[in-house]
Amino acid sequence: MASSVIVGTQWGDEGKGKIIDIMAKKADLVIRSSGGNNAGHTVVHGDEVYKLHLLPSGILYPKTTCLIGSGVVVDPKVLLGEISEMNKRGVTCDNLRIDSRADIIMPWHRELDRLEEEFKAKQTGVNVGTTGRGIGPCYTDKARRVGIRMYDLCRPECLKKLVKNTGELNNLMIEKVYGGQPLDLDAIFEEYKAYGEQLAKYEADGSVITFESYNDGKTVLFEGAQATLLDIDFGTYPFVTSSHPIAGGACIGTGVGPKLIDEVIGVGKSYTTRVGNGPFPTELNDDLGDLIRNRGGEFGTTTGRPRRTGWFDAVIMRHAVRVNGLTALAINKFDTLSGIGTLKVCVAYKKSDGTVLKDFPVTLEELADCTPIYEEIEGYDGDLSDCRKFDELPEKCRSYITRLEELCGCPITIIGVGAGNDQVIFR
Ligand code: IMP
Repeated sequence: MASSVIVGTQWGDEGKGKIIDIMAKKADLVIRSSGGNNAGHTVVHGDEVYKLHLLPSGILYPKTTCLIGSGVVVDPKVLLGEISEMNKRGVTCDNLRIDSRADIIMPWHRELDRLEEEFKAKQTGVNVGTTGRGIGPCYTDKARRVGIRMYDLCRPECLKKLVKNTGELNNLMIEKVYGGQPLDLDAIFEEYKAYGEQLAKYEADGSVITFESYNDGKTVLFEGAQATLLDIDFGTYPFVTSSHPIAGGACIGTGVGPKLIDEVIGVGKSYTTRVGNGPFPTELNDDLGDLIRNRGGEFGTTTGRPRRTGWFDAVIMRHAVRVNGLTALAINKFDTLSGIGTLKVCVAYKKSDGTVLKDFPVTLEELADCTPIYEEIEGYDGDLSDCRKFDELPEKCRSYITRLEELCGCPITIIGVGAGNDQVIFR
């Protein structure tokens, strides 16, 4: 396929990084199109481990163009830190491009992220639990058309005017709405002017790069961040991020039309996990949930926070198939479920009034009222980690996979059988 979009199908942590790494090796252009440094992605290259937040995954391959698209919010300090870290390890990053339209995360965005979370927690007792990187406030400025973009960052005369105007507006919010300390705008201008000077060489028109690459027959990979249930419209609002991690976001966040997308691969796990609060119909609050957590290593990579675990939820997966237009699924961690006995899959939800829902509900209130309707499937045993062909999997494992495909309405073409990048079956 000439162009592929990779998206997370659940609440994140599905193992997108592994699938993206495998595909990035073969890509001519790798694009990040939404989110910012709220994402975290570990790339293993030989014995070296790289932790990336903003740099696209292909950055290790000098011939692969890596684009930070217009839909991304860029924290220049974090990006320069990542580039410098890469340079120290011999990676030039000369293949990086940043769209002129990408919005810049400014210090007031991080401050407002913190203040808004504090305010929400005090007012309602529940905050979003953001990553605190200023993502939401930056997208807010973009939507109210006062944002500072990459173009402005790289031009001191534009930057100066916007730091004054947008900075004053944000300072007013910090001070008058939240009772915080206004920020020193002159110091911010000087600091960000220097960042602009260092990043100017990467500035480009990402839409043109992508369109031309595709038309030249190059392989284009849109690297997803976050996941479907964190999408601002189609996720579990308001416990979502402020952008569109779904497949449509790849077009909007790059500046190309949907006809340019050839395939959309949704990455999921053979069970479900969720971090933080909010309804989770198939959650296992028992020994089995603990067993899956321990066997699957379901602990946050940066915080070490235990993830909540539960059965595979076909209602969620059908939602992901629909809103992303998935052409294929990549499901990881079939090895984790080996030997745990009978498996359950949620095929629909039942509400307290007896109504059966086949589709993922729109509101959190409705989701909280849902209990899963399960189908039981015979479990499988054995070590899957050396299987490289579908036929090498235990028969009962193959039946589980086939049943998931039927329930989700999408073929599972990539099957994860272990943590290693090579522990994958392609069908
Ligand atoms: P924000 O994106 O920092 O505003 O956070 C909003 C919500 O999205 C929070 O619940 C975060 O934990 C979640 N979130 C943001 N980025 C990621 C990610 O890359 N993986 C998983 N959760 C994320």
